[in-house]
Amino acid sequence: MMDRTGGATGHDSPSRHAMGERSVPLSMSRRGLLRTALAGLAGGGALASAHAARAQSQPAAISTTAGAYVPRPPAAQYRFRVGATRLDPTGRKPVPGITVNGQYPGPEIRVREGTMLRVEAENTLADQPTAIHWHGLLLPAAMDGVPDVSGPTIAPRRIFVYEYPVRQSGTYWYHSHWQLQEQIGLAGPFVIEAKDEPLRVDHDVVVMLGDWLYTSPYAVLESLRKGPAKAAGMKGGEMKSGDATSGGMKTGGAMAGDMKADLADVTYDAFLLNGRSPQNPWTLGARAGARIRLRIINAGASTYFRLRLDGHPLTITHADGLAIEPVTVDHLLMGMAETYDALVTLSGSGSYTLHAVAMDGSGQAVGVLHTPDVVPRPNLAMPPLEGRALDYRDLRSAAPTTLPGGPVRPFTLALGGDMARYVWTVGGQEYPKADPLVIRQGDRVQIEMQNQTTMWHPMHLHGHFFRVLQGAGERAPLKHTVNVPPRETVRIEFTADNPGRWIFHCHNLYHLDAGMARVFEYEA
Ligand code: C2O
Ligand code: CU
Repeated sequence: MMDRTGGATGHDSPSRHAMGERSVPLSMSRRGLLRTALAGLAGGGALASAHAARAQSQPAAISTTAGAYVPRPPAAQYRFRVGATRLDPTGRKPVPGITVNGQYPGPEIRVREGTMLRVEAENTLADQPTAIHWHGLLLPAAMDGVPDVSGPTIAPRRIFVYEYPVRQSGTYWYHSHWQLQEQIGLAGPFVIEAKDEPLRVDHDVVVMLGDWLYTSPYAVLESLRKGPAKAAGMKGGEMKSGDATSGGMKTGGAMAGDMKADLADVTYDAFLLNGRSPQNPWTLGARAGARIRLRIINAGASTYFRLRLDGHPLTITHADGLAIEPVTVDHLLMGMAETYDALVTLSGSGSYTLHAVAMDGSGQAVGVLHTPDVVPRPNLAMPPLEGRALDYRDLRSAAPTTLPGGPVRPFTLALGGDMARYVWTVGGQEYPKADPLVIRQGDRVQIEMQNQTTMWHPMHLHGHFFRVLQGAGERAPLKHTVNVPPRETVRIEFTADNPGRWIFHCHNLYHLDAGMARVFEYEA
């Protein structure tokens, strides 16, 4: 496994503790740029990266073509080489992976809100296409990166340049939307620094969670499809009431064997934090009293995680990239593809383990925050998951989110599964053999999802944020991914304001591959 710039997000030098006008010290941005430039050099894109570095460090250029001022956003450019590599995050044995620039997780994109982003993506794979999706980004459909729906499929040995203005801020990520490439390494963090950031912090770091297999995920999917005898997978046709799992606040440690099938499809070999195993964890050095912004991304392919930091509460400030009224909790459950920003103030000299426990209790990923006087030491014991848990009803948007009026376009969609065939459905249909869900620009689209299964489904909509209607009234939080617990019903709504075709799917990669998706299509 390649060095994945552990130092860059790892031990931080005390010089970065200085607090400037901006919440993110300039030194960090510069270092981010330097890292980008170095990544570009490694990938052969020195010129492009140097250009990006210049463009980012200077004010917006003003074009005077034809005598008219055309203000342009500053540009940032990244060069992504998608390629086959061998990965071994726990030191067991190298297995085939597919990554960006040989790194897992992929290089961090970090830009300012208002940037014009260009990502030159080269598919160096000889035998398969790729497509990169910018998860949570509001962009034109042609850049969205979903084969056959939005954006191109990049054929072997072809280049595609993704280019779009970044008109939001927050913590996001990118990942392949081609088959199971996401499971074998093609994913990375995407951070957008806000223009007017009110938070002042000493450290601003990404915590990206993942799940890892030392066998081929394609073989795992095959065995899931093989029927009731299949290994770690589904319970046969039975759909029992999900009492023990609903509500989501049970601890992960002591699930009876027969509950495991409800909590995970796949048995993983390891859980990773910033690509690293608990034995060789990611660490962050910070002085006592330092304020740390953790940008937590659940990039697991099919793992729900419960997060907890030893000895510290977590103050959640952003959900799926967007500001909420801060809420302080002891632990939180994260579905696949959700992101949360958490503020932590280091209480004193010590070594504090951040735990991300897989919901089925089968393992955990860890990272360590520590003061410089202390050697970071991971606490590998399963943490107690007590105290206050984050609940969706705690999520209140920092600003009102009421939608403009508009014709209501309602959908009632059952989330279903046919366990005998390992097929998952939305509204009784199995994607891609599914009808489009037709909407019109300006519609107020209301979706009621009725989960008829005993599993959790993190449902994700491309190209839009939706309001999660769970009692916050005009402060209903905006999200791009919402958990629908077993046997429960969840309502969301959004204004149709981004024309195109957009996939709406479960972010369990295996459920998606097995049909759990539909396409929203704007009527011409
Ligand atoms: Cu992370 Cu279709 O998305
Ligand atoms: Cu699902």
